[in-house]
Amino acid sequence: MDKKAVVIAGAGSTHTPGIIQSLLQKKNELPLRKLALYDIDEKRMHLVYDIMKQFIEQEAPDIEVVVTTDPEKAFTDVDFVFAQIRQGGLQMRRQDERIPLKYGCVGQETCGAGGSISYGIRSIPGVFDLVRYAKKYSPDAWILNYSNPAAVVAEATRREFNNDHILNICDMPTAILLSYSKMLGLPSWRDIDPMYFGLNHFGWFTKIYDKQGRDRLPELRQMILEHGMAVSDKHHKDKDWMHTWGQYVKIVKDYPEYLPNSYLQYYLYSKDMADDMDPNWTRADNVINGREKEMFAEHDKYLADPANYKSPVQSFTVFGDFIVDAAASIAYNKCERYLVIVENNGAIPNLPDDAMVEVPAYLRSWGPEPISQPAIPTFYKGLIEEQNASEKLAVDAYYEHSYQKALEAIAINKTVPSTTVARQILDDLIEANGNYWPTLS
Ligand code: G6P
Ligand code: MN
Repeated sequence: MDKKAVVIAGAGSTHTPGIIQSLLQKKNELPLRKLALYDIDEKRMHLVYDIMKQFIEQEAPDIEVVVTTDPEKAFTDVDFVFAQIRQGGLQMRRQDERIPLKYGCVGQETCGAGGSISYGIRSIPGVFDLVRYAKKYSPDAWILNYSNPAAVVAEATRREFNNDHILNICDMPTAILLSYSKMLGLPSWRDIDPMYFGLNHFGWFTKIYDKQGRDRLPELRQMILEHGMAVSDKHHKDKDWMHTWGQYVKIVKDYPEYLPNSYLQYYLYSKDMADDMDPNWTRADNVINGREKEMFAEHDKYLADPANYKSPVQSFTVFGDFIVDAAASIAYNKCERYLVIVENNGAIPNLPDDAMVEVPAYLRSWGPEPISQPAIPTFYKGLIEEQNASEKLAVDAYYEHSYQKALEAIAINKTVPSTTVARQILDDLIEANGNYWPTLS
């Protein structure tokens, strides 16, 4: 197997140590010749590198390591870009979550006014920069983008680049499949071939086939209703996520036909969720005081004794594992099946061709080959079309610098009850986003 070069863009992320760990532990699946770390926040990137340096040197002494804020150095001669940026960092995530909550609406990283619209419009130019660097310095590279909000970002990269050599992908379906496989007593999430339709963070599993071709969904549904979700990966196990898995059972009770993506809780119970959330302490605060603090504490250990410091090598998150496997499937044309975000083009026959949908696909060296799904029932179609309109309007607002489109994007979102509220939220978001957003008029 020829060796590959990977650049992690947004290397200052709390998820980067886990991704580096996966990359080096999976060196048989995706052998590396070079690992580049790139971020606009030099200090944060070096903090991550300090933590992982010993592990990199131990596991992969032969690879070339580049740590840089210079796009040319980072993006030249690479085969894959793992793009996972967070424009405005966790501080802006906090704003996205708090502002809608001030008006009684769901405040969430990727959902609703703060997620799809605020973070969406903010993320687009940052992701475009990365794609342009990749296309300029390594035109054949594949960009695996899991920068959020992935649904909005995918729509924007569709319009700007026709998603040429760009694969938009999210870890949530894989994390859920991991849980399902454990619950069914199967050794790996790969022992399941799911059928699935929807948008990113807005979809449903319709079949859960095992390798014998039996649909295990009815059995799983029963298990979930009787015993709840048994969550497997480290990332999705903390207190907030456990609350989500509790809600998950509620969705299955109310809508037992299919098995949902956990993010549907924010839309199907938006008022209950908002009522339950604290506008002065959101998920961002917990991430800042949890995952991020742990990373800083780890760095303090490094600073105390750099020469003898050992990188921590417990498994960090599921993010890394599946993204490395997905890259390997593209690199070596392995034709493995993943849930990915692609332009519909008939994959879900009764949704618009130009919707960016999340469906299963085989990953080939020339890109994803989506697996078509049966037409979807009215309830799901209505929900998806409304959400998709919100996401498309957010991208319109970005391109057209249009206040009106941004207002419509928020007003049509299921998490927002009225135009009066939509306008109040939008005006606050404009102020909070400052130069991250184009000037809307
Ligand atoms: C899941 C989603 C990601 C999202 C993350 C948030 O993994 O698929 O898109 O960013 O959850 O998790 P956090 O722990 O940061 O709230
Ligand atoms: Mn996601």
